[in-house]
Amino acid sequence: MIFNLFLLLTITFNWQIVVFKLLEVKQMMENLENTIKNPKNKKIVMAPMAGITDGKFSTKFKGLFAIYTLGGYNLDSITYNCSISIEKRGRKEFIYPLHSIVDLIKKDILLTRECGGLVSINVRFKNLSECKNILRELDNYTDIIELNCHCRQKEITSVGLGQELLKKENNHILKKILEGMKNLNLKSPVFLKIRCNVIDTDDLIDNLKNVDNYFDGLHIDGFNPNKDYCDLESIKKISSSFKDKVIIGNNSIRCEKDAKTMLKYCDYASVARCLLGGNVDWIKGFNSC
Ligand SMILES: Cc1cc2nc3c(=O)[nH]c(=O)nc-3n(C[C@H](O)[C@H](O)[C@H](O)COP(=O)(O)O)c2cc1C
Repeated sequence: MIFNLFLLLTITFNWQIVVFKLLEVKQMMENLENTIKNPKNKKIVMAPMAGITDGKFSTKFKGLFAIYTLGGYNLDSITYNCSISIEKRGRKEFIYPLHSIVDLIKKDILLTRECGGLVSINVRFKNLSECKNILRELDNYTDIIELNCHCRQKEITSVGLGQELLKKENNHILKKILEGMKNLNLKSPVFLKIRCNVIDTDDLIDNLKNVDNYFDGLHIDGFNPNKDYCDLESIKKISSSFKDKVIIGNNSIRCEKDAKTMLKYCDYASVARCLLGGNVDWIKGFNSC
């Protein structure tokens, strides 16, 4: 009798926990979906700049951005060594030793949490088996994981990473990385940071369609070789080919007018270099519209 009562209580209690957990997860997913897909008013995103966009940098811009993208961080020894070489020739990088990387990125994320927006981490790696536990850990703290398919530094491209991942011949590498990430069952949506005009835009769209099942959003740099303005046509084309994804449009946004134009085709508009010069007053005005 006592045993049956105990069993009944245990089953009821466990059921309550399961239902409670399911409701909690559903609510979390809805919140994230609503914030990402239907942002209420903030539409501007902080784009990543290696060696610059860490937790301390974010806190200079409290309340300004819908999403704060941190990094790019290296999550395996291949990319860590690349960054050391890049820094040796004078470019800033985040040199976070792999044995303490979770704590260091976690610190950046927690500082950025004070800013009020979502947090995204821009990451580079080739060897998933070396960094899967790092990803699993960071997944507990970040809102978005953004895979860097954008970097054009020769140290990174020479190991087939960064913008090289956009090419047809490296599509199998991208697929392997993304498949591996999917198998980790991360809660965070996966975004790809991509660069236009590395290859033909239609080819880029085809290559991305091949891995379409493995990502939730695209952060598109409308890089326009030898021009100081964005390739809006490519952004428009990519965005209309991935209507089910969250799209962040990026490149040469310096004022309200640039942002408004970008937002005709994208859910969000992101800024990088304009932050270095402190050109942010227009964003404050934009948020209060
Ligand atoms: C110093 C610097 C470092 C950057 N580092 C990264 C990076 O680590 N990962 C990445 O995806 N993009 C990186 N970017 C690219 C920016 O996120 C952005 O795509 C580019 O600067 C174009 O946007 P903007 O015209 O607003 O500057 C970097 C840009 C700069 C200027």
